[in-house]
Amino acid sequence: MLKKLKYRRSVLVLVVLTSAVFLLVQCAGNDKKTGSAEGVTSNPRYEAYAASEQCASCHKDIYEKHLTTAHHLTGQPANAATIMGSFEEGKNNYSYTPSILLSMQKRDSEFYQVAFYKGEEKKAMRFDMVIGSGVMGESYLNWRGNRLYQLPITFFTAANQWANSPGFPNDRVLIDRPVTARCLECHISYATPTDSARMEPLSFDRNQLIYGVDCQKCHGPAAAHVEYQSKHPEDKQGKFIVNPVKLSRSKQMDICALCHGGNIQKTTPSFSFKAGDDLSDHFIIDTSTTVLLNSPVDVHGNQVGLLKASKCFRMTQTLTCNSCHNTHENQRGKTELFSQKCTGCHNTTDATFRTATHQQVQGIEKNCIDCHMPAQPSKSIAVKLQGQDILKASLLRTHYIGIYPEEIKKYIQQKQP
Ligand code: HEC
Ligand code: HEC
Ligand code: HEC
Ligand code: HEC
Ligand code: HEC
Ligand code: HEC
Ligand code: HEC
Repeated sequence: MLKKLKYRRSVLVLVVLTSAVFLLVQCAGNDKKTGSAEGVTSNPRYEAYAASEQCASCHKDIYEKHLTTAHHLTGQPANAATIMGSFEEGKNNYSYTPSILLSMQKRDSEFYQVAFYKGEEKKAMRFDMVIGSGVMGESYLNWRGNRLYQLPITFFTAANQWANSPGFPNDRVLIDRPVTARCLECHISYATPTDSARMEPLSFDRNQLIYGVDCQKCHGPAAAHVEYQSKHPEDKQGKFIVNPVKLSRSKQMDICALCHGGNIQKTTPSFSFKAGDDLSDHFIIDTSTTVLLNSPVDVHGNQVGLLKASKCFRMTQTLTCNSCHNTHENQRGKTELFSQKCTGCHNTTDATFRTATHQQVQGIEKNCIDCHMPAQPSKSIAVKLQGQDILKASLLRTHYIGIYPEEIKKYIQQKQP
């Protein structure tokens, strides 16, 4: 049974005004451009990458489809096309307390989150970068010097509203939460740190960024490939490029695990891992099954770990993320297509497939997903909406493929009343 939670707006909103209302921490003025000695940018790691537009000349179809994927969209410069929330009067405010308000405003051609205290403007922070494709939501980053800060307000798609950013305080405007390289490592493809002595850099060269999860995150830096193929149009073999299917199963999984492998800990400088490397040469990875099964299904959780714990993975030699996902395309919501991947291994005409429950369900081959990979609430993409006390969470598919009695009961009741 679907339990509908009605959030009752609490009558007594206790507003505790802490002494420090606005944390107006000024960023130290170390905006010095840190290129190379002569001021010419020469960074071998950055220069190993091509611009992904260059791939279009020879891989047009893949390039164009990739533009529609969540991977491409997940880290982009902020502008009218990429910011999903509304700047219209009446829809553009988020009030923390009766006296503290944040207002989303368009000023000339730029967009700002503007903090007001008792009606007086305190600070305007520009939307510079959008993190998140908006399937679930978008968070926003602001450049100050060569550092990035996460803005206090996020867009939450399920409610079509601005919301307090996950983990931010409810009673004041936090303006100085720094964005680490780790955040960028999952949502964009490359950034040159300007304080690279740190394991977790906090400042970056704004002119050396590769937005989104680019081709080269899965295929390795490709400047040499582009150069070679351009000079040798007669060569029909791809050189200086990684095709994941030609790697071992474990290295294929490692590419995805860089960002879908949960809370792994870095042991080499940021952005060192390349497709084809062993992830364990760059990160400490906890592979024990008990940890995986007890870890909550989560957005910044662990699809790789959950899948690896599933029988489908353990009892086959070939299953990888790519067995179900074609990451060049946007396949969101294509339940029937995904179910065909299941029936590729689980033949619905086999006697063993005719279980008690399966026999009750008509058109079973169209949807294996809702029963065996049910959607569950995320622990970290959960936001506070204005005037509500309970966090509202996004739903994610568990990748621990199994039998979920509660969800299955729900599904059967909905389908066969
Ligand atoms: C000048 C043409 C050209 C450009 C530009 C180009 N490629 Fe290729 N690429 C090729 C050719 C030719 C092949 C070999 C035939 C094939 O697999 O399509 C290839 C193959 C590949 C393969 C498969 C390799 C394999 O071993 O199976 C990948 C992956 C790839 N390219 C990625 C990229 C990416 C990413 C970019 C942009 C950064 C890019 N290519 C730009 C011509 C090009
Ligand atoms: C550099 C980090 C990174 C790598 C590497 C990566 N992903 Fe992702 N992936 C993301 C992020 C971030 C999102 C969330 C995008 C969003 O909605 O903002 C995502 C989303 C997805 C989605 C959901 C797409 C949708 O339409 O909502 C799928 C499926 C996926 N990734 C599969 C894979 C697979 C398979 C691999 C390995 C071949 C992989 N990813 C490698 C970062 C990565
Ligand atoms: C370990 C990799 C990783 C790190 C670190 C990470 N993310 Fe994510 N993030 C993901 C993945 C993967 C998804 C897609 C959700 C999923 O399918 O699990 C996602 C989803 C999101 C979404 C929702 C996008 C949508 O689907 O609409 C937002 C917003 C987001 N992340 C913001 C952030 C911010 C801000 C940071 C840093 C402070 C951050 N993330 C750090 C991997 C990461
Ligand atoms: C999230 C990871 C990911 C991203 C991003 C990605 N690819 Fe791929 N790509 C793969 C995987 C996995 C395969 C192997 C697919 C297979 O054969 O099953 C592949 C295969 C290829 C191939 C060779 C096979 C074919 O289908 O022709 C080319 C060429 C290619 N990719 C180009 C690109 C280009 C160009 C981009 C960016 C526009 C891109 N890829 C983005 C994961 C990715
Ligand atoms: C590469 C082949 C393969 C694919 C693809 C695959 N499975 Fe499996 N799956 C297996 C094997 C092998 C087992 C273990 C033997 C068995 O129970 O049939 C298994 C086991 C299971 C089980 C029993 C789990 C348990 O803990 O008892 C379920 C349920 C299941 N799969 C559902 C699915 C669904 C749903 C999909 C698609 C989303 C899927 N499988 C995709 C191979 C696969
Ligand atoms: C047996 C099939 C199967 C395999 C293998 C698989 N996925 Fe999925 N995945 C799905 C299905 C089904 C969905 C739900 C798609 C939808 O409804 O849009 C999904 C959704 C996702 C999403 C979107 C966010 C969410 O949870 O709703 C991400 C990210 C993702 N998968 C990543 C991965 C990664 C990384 C791997 C490898 C570790 C992987 N998947 C392996 C079937 C699979
Ligand atoms: C209505 C929910 C539901 C749907 C839809 C469903 N299953 Fe199941 N499945 C179950 C239940 C419940 C079981 C446990 C056995 C039982 O109670 O019948 C099961 C068991 C299984 C098993 C283990 C079988 C065994 O031998 O123990 C596999 C494999 C499986 N399902 C695969 C699939 C595939 C593939 C699809 C889609 C074609 C699918 N299921 C669709 C509910 C469902």
